[in-house]
Amino acid sequence: MTVAVLFGGRSVEHEVSVISAHQVMDALEVAGFSLLPIFISKSGAWFAGRGLYNLKLYSTPGFDPGQLRDSHRVSLSPDTSTRQLVLHPNGAKGFFYNPPLLWADIFFPVLHGTHGEDGRMQSLFELADVPYVGAGVEASATGMDKIRQKEIYRAAGLPVLDCLWTGRQDWNANPSAFVKAVEARFPYPVIVKPSSLGSSIAVSRCLNSNELLQNTNLAMQFDDRVMVEPALVNFKEINCSIIGPPYQASVCEMPSVDGDLLTFDAKYKTGSKAGSKSPIAGMSKSGMASLNRIIPAPISPELTAYVQQLATRAFQSLGCQGIARIDFLLAEDGHTVFVNEINTMPGSLSFYLWEASGLGFDQLVTRLVENGMERFHQKISTQFSLDVNLLAPAKSS
Ligand SMILES: Nc1ncnc2c1ncn2[C@@H]1O[C@H](COP(=O)(O)OP(=O)(O)O)[C@@H](O)[C@H]1O
Ligand SMILES: [Mg+2]
Repeated sequence: MTVAVLFGGRSVEHEVSVISAHQVMDALEVAGFSLLPIFISKSGAWFAGRGLYNLKLYSTPGFDPGQLRDSHRVSLSPDTSTRQLVLHPNGAKGFFYNPPLLWADIFFPVLHGTHGEDGRMQSLFELADVPYVGAGVEASATGMDKIRQKEIYRAAGLPVLDCLWTGRQDWNANPSAFVKAVEARFPYPVIVKPSSLGSSIAVSRCLNSNELLQNTNLAMQFDDRVMVEPALVNFKEINCSIIGPPYQASVCEMPSVDGDLLTFDAKYKTGSKAGSKSPIAGMSKSGMASLNRIIPAPISPELTAYVQQLATRAFQSLGCQGIARIDFLLAEDGHTVFVNEINTMPGSLSFYLWEASGLGFDQLVTRLVENGMERFHQKISTQFSLDVNLLAPAKSS
């Protein structure tokens, strides 16, 4: 069985995806799958070929995937009669070009953030009618949208922090109206976040109107909707991963927070040399797995069970498939928990949580591939067209 692993992509988390995908490809090989690596450049060009499975390439200055002998420009056609990758019109390499076999049994998007984790890529898979791993279109899209997600969690009776949000047009028209609304609802400090980014980018803590104004402006540069919620103090973070269906919860972790928030650097650059030019060289090879964390989280068995139950319900409420990591904030009192956000393609696939739960990385990716195949077979039982032709001329009796 051949698994096409997609990575890179048009996202600020491009480099993180390259690392996660190499970890996933290692695990898929151990599990006995054949690989078809597909690298998507930052500008959105697709390249396929075995040669792209080589982490060193991506930290080489001036790396051009088009120059690799074993790499071919490809695309996935939304035409359901194709159902596989096709060579890009500019992809042929000279006269003696031997077109590669581009068949994949299933697509595994190890893509984080925009154009990969947000439902856009999943929608291409749906149109092309190919099996794929992970959350579907709607779950991916809501999973990336912190504002919508909160509404769903609240409706499902899950504990979330209250929030106010504004869109770019409203904000530009009248920033002080939003600042006033926030101040009427929450005392400082508050947290400002772009609705659909990740990796703590443009997430900031504000102590007064001026900071709220500046930080909302900053967040608006990255997203067209920005949310504000009360900032917890002396809080802890707890994460739990879910796979399924059938649903299973991992052990919990407690990432260590340096200062007030987990920053991008803390998440990916721990132990690396500061000032390194290549984002990949700067990141530790183990990606998210290298973050300082305590596994299992040092909380009571009761609180652990409660967090696992909330994580499962959050996963179900969004209609997730495959895997997700659900992040929680644990308040200063040590027992009040809030669902913070979901990651439908978590960094390093949270394999370190599954290993600690007794499921090896190779077993984890096998389960995810099986889940993707199963979902595909379920889709076949949904009827998408009617066997009547409303355009046919009516029979005269
Ligand atoms: N309400 C809050 N109070 C205090 N800190 C917060 C709050 N929300 C988020 N943070 C901190 O900011 C970090 C990033 O926020 P998060 O919602 O997880 O967004 P991202 O998608 O960027 O990871 C969190 O890991 C946490 O450390
Ligand atoms: Mg987060």
